Amino acid sequence: MKEEKIIVTSALLYVNNFPHLGNLVCVVSADVYARYLKSRGKNVISVLGTDEHGTTTEIKAIQEGVTPKEITDKYFKIHKEVYDFFLCKPDCFGRTSSKKNKEITVHLFKKLEENGYISEGELEQFYCPKCDRALADRFVKGTCKVCGYENARGDQCEKCGTLLESDQLENPRCAICEGEVEIRKSNHLFLDLPALSDELKTLLEETKQNWSYNAVTMTQSWLERGLKKRCISRDLKWGIPIPKKGFENKVFYSWFDAPIGYMGITAENRGDWKEWWMDKSTRLVQFMGKDNIPFHTIIFPGILIGSKEGYTLLDTISVNEYLNYEGGKFSKSQHKGIFGDDVVKLGIRSDVWRYYIIINRPEKADTDFTWEDFREKLNNELVANFGNLIQRIMVFLKNKYDSEVPGSVLEEEDKRFVSKVKEHAEKVEELFDRIQLKASLKEIMKIARLGNQYMQENKPWSDDVPQRRKDAAMNVLANLAKDLAILVNPIMPGASKDIFKQLNVPEQDWDALFDMSIKKGHKVGEATPLFSKMSDEQMKEFKARFSQSSKDRKEVKEQEKKGLDFSDLDLRVGHIKDVEEHPNADKLWVLKVDLGREERQLVAGLRKEYTSDELKGKNIVVVRNLKPAKLRVIKSQGMLLAGEGKPLDDGKEQVGLILANAESGSPVYQEGKEESAKAAKKKTVTIDELFDNFKMEVKQGMAYINGKKLFADGKPLKCERVAEGKIR
Ligand code: MF3
Ligand code: ZN
Repeated sequence: MKEEKIIVTSALLYVNNFPHLGNLVCVVSADVYARYLKSRGKNVISVLGTDEHGTTTEIKAIQEGVTPKEITDKYFKIHKEVYDFFLCKPDCFGRTSSKKNKEITVHLFKKLEENGYISEGELEQFYCPKCDRALADRFVKGTCKVCGYENARGDQCEKCGTLLESDQLENPRCAICEGEVEIRKSNHLFLDLPALSDELKTLLEETKQNWSYNAVTMTQSWLERGLKKRCISRDLKWGIPIPKKGFENKVFYSWFDAPIGYMGITAENRGDWKEWWMDKSTRLVQFMGKDNIPFHTIIFPGILIGSKEGYTLLDTISVNEYLNYEGGKFSKSQHKGIFGDDVVKLGIRSDVWRYYIIINRPEKADTDFTWEDFREKLNNELVANFGNLIQRIMVFLKNKYDSEVPGSVLEEEDKRFVSKVKEHAEKVEELFDRIQLKASLKEIMKIARLGNQYMQENKPWSDDVPQRRKDAAMNVLANLAKDLAILVNPIMPGASKDIFKQLNVPEQDWDALFDMSIKKGHKVGEATPLFSKMSDEQMKEFKARFSQSSKDRKEVKEQEKKGLDFSDLDLRVGHIKDVEEHPNADKLWVLKVDLGREERQLVAGLRKEYTSDELKGKNIVVVRNLKPAKLRVIKSQGMLLAGEGKPLDDGKEQVGLILANAESGSPVYQEGKEESAKAAKKKTVTIDELFDNFKMEVKQGMAYINGKKLFADGKPLKCERVAEGKIR
């Protein structure tokens, strides 16, 4: 019989933000389980990657004035670094936006269509005439009819949690331009889940003994309520285009191509991907958070079954509940909690985080990360129990035995100890097999505790204990250290490696457990502590640092950074579309400026210098990431650049606009640095920072910042009316 193939997957996290500790639970769990299977000698591949499409990315891109691709490229790198730090080492790593995933997604869609599982239907949908686009739910904002919250998203009110139907949203407006929206009809594609429900029921019945309890109940309830056709098309630009006439402006729903990404990523990495994914006997084991369940138990298998191509289907599913932060939710947007990028910088070894994630793994209910709890587990469990045992074994071998393992004649009590340890190790194995990772780790810690007790009883430091007892104990303990290195390897691969190294033996797999292979006369290496304790002050410092609101954090970050450079400025070409008088300030104009992907309102003090007709239609330069301000009650979202100084003919001082010969939205860059214009600008800059950090001048009618000439679209920016002066 051919050896069983196993695929282990972790949910592919969205790459439009930093992953937080809670997001990493399923990533680390999958890695632990895959490492365990490998140690057991199984034929396994693990798959991890990033989920790149979807509305959130597109909205974020529009808000930041960059392309979705730039957002995902940036966060893909960050995610990769975080996974590396956490020692998550998938065999296949990739992205749902890859060419392979596009191919496979399109292929599956065509198969589904061929097999009659795709239908068309009309949906009523919001449309923004100004942005000229149909708006996916998340692109619409309005007042929630249920609780009155004014900034509810089109699909869900964040305040009261209600899932909103379009008629429950009052005063709907466009989330991009805040403009009024219309309702229009639009054609969409639907996956015929009802037609697949018998087969999905069978899948549940056949495999549910391998599913987490919450996955079973949620899937049962979906099936009992009756499946509905599921819309798989979206009016977005960012995604996999739908290859079908009439759908040219639509892409696949990101939950359609995301799980297919598991296959796409395998294909990116291995030519033999079909051998893994098109074999009914492959065991597919999937890890995820609880909000991902129906996509993995209904939609993804529905797609695979509907294709009728015999793909590998879900066998085992391990779902985690949420890990919360200090009694609240982690919030990416509010930056509350610890995020992957923070963890990397704290100087705490990744094994400690892995230990903490697994020992606190939210398996049956949500759990809470607190710094007190983290410190307690590090100090009292990892350092005082596990680390201490290994450290004492190594130190006694060095100090009392000159680093040479003594011989052993095992006596009754040693044998009793060893068999006790074996019993626990069997439990460890059984629990790993059932993916009870938390319980498994607890058993390992019990073994360490027994080891400490055994050492305490045999007192290798004492002159009152007969030498033969001490020798036997130290021999048993040296072998125990090796066995612990094997047992703990899936969870703490770094510490495991260190133990093997300190023992001066090669790294070993599960089948070397209890082989007593460390024999009399074996020379061990240097003893070094595996973990160090965290002080109370340190804990308090972390707690204060990561519990700040976003605002405080931003300010801290801003203070940390000294000075700004040109790359912190987001300068764009803007087209003046409309000019109105400021209602209560006779020096100010209120301009409507088109910045390509958005329109902005600017308040400008130019009424003495420019008439509205002189302004209208000009292509000016706008500081796009200026902190928005209100000028006499009217909102101003940016600042235009104007020169002030002497004209060419040396006449009297003038004010003139900086003008660009480029399309609205074009980035402005310094001479020779065209590339830098593409970088994402995340900060907002205050007026004071602008004038404190940048020397902005007009020389020979051209605009300069910090001594470098400014360009847009290959052409220099010019100042009208002014030849020599400063920019204000
Ligand atoms: N991106 C989703 C999330 O972070 C998970 C997608 S899992 C996938 O919740 F496999 F379907 F990609
Ligand atoms: Zn709009």
